[in-house]
Amino acid sequence: MTILGVDVGGSGIKGALVNTETGSLITDRHRIPTPDPSTPHAVADAIHQLAKSFDYKGPIGVGFPSVIHNGIAKTASNIHKSWISTNARELFSLTTGCEVTVLNDADAAGLAEMTFGTGKDHRGTVLLVTIGTGIGTVLFVNGTMVPNLEMGHIFLHNGYFGEKYASDAVRKAKDLSWSAWAKRMNVYLKTMEDLTWPDLIIIGGGVSKKQEKFFPQLKLRTPFVAAHFRNEAGIIGAALAAGQNKPKK
Ligand code: BGC
Repeated sequence: MTILGVDVGGSGIKGALVNTETGSLITDRHRIPTPDPSTPHAVADAIHQLAKSFDYKGPIGVGFPSVIHNGIAKTASNIHKSWISTNARELFSLTTGCEVTVLNDADAAGLAEMTFGTGKDHRGTVLLVTIGTGIGTVLFVNGTMVPNLEMGHIFLHNGYFGEKYASDAVRKAKDLSWSAWAKRMNVYLKTMEDLTWPDLIIIGGGVSKKQEKFFPQLKLRTPFVAAHFRNEAGIIGAALAAGQNKPKK
């Protein structure tokens, strides 16, 4: 099946048509800057624009940077506060005229990696950490997802919250060298491995394209790898989630 996958991020809204049988992108990725302010209607219009740019009518999957319960956004760390309690599924479906499935962006990335990527057939506990404007997390135990984990907000022993210390947005805002930022990421990931004891850590998000800049400095007991789909995992997983909601023919 061909499904439009969309990844809503703090700085860009990215979409592509995805072959949900193989997990591959059928088109190039289109990116629209996230509207500022990123209010519900502005984001919904941007998604509509993306769908139109592909001349697409059909199910859409959207990975969203918030806790999502039954289509409703429950938190808003890196998106406009008016998202809290907004029914994202209904809003996006109404605006685009398509049937939209919405899930947390890290959950979407995890779904892609566990179905077709680095975590495929991986038993045990797999932690995926996606690093961008915020830090998203998802845990899979023997292939089953623990959704809406929100461990990007854990309190570190140095007094910072995880994503306020180690996100890619912090690296850029503070103009940190890769080496200085890698030390911060190491503090974050060490805390995560001490709390969740995974068998494998998958690192995704924009920085996963630059693994050579910081992987050598990560000193973890847990094996870690870059997400196979790099920053496209969210788009692919969102499309897969929308595909799972379609009745099998
Ligand atoms: C949000 C998460 C999201 C992560 C990555 C965090 O600020 O609370 O829901 O998964 O950013 O976008």
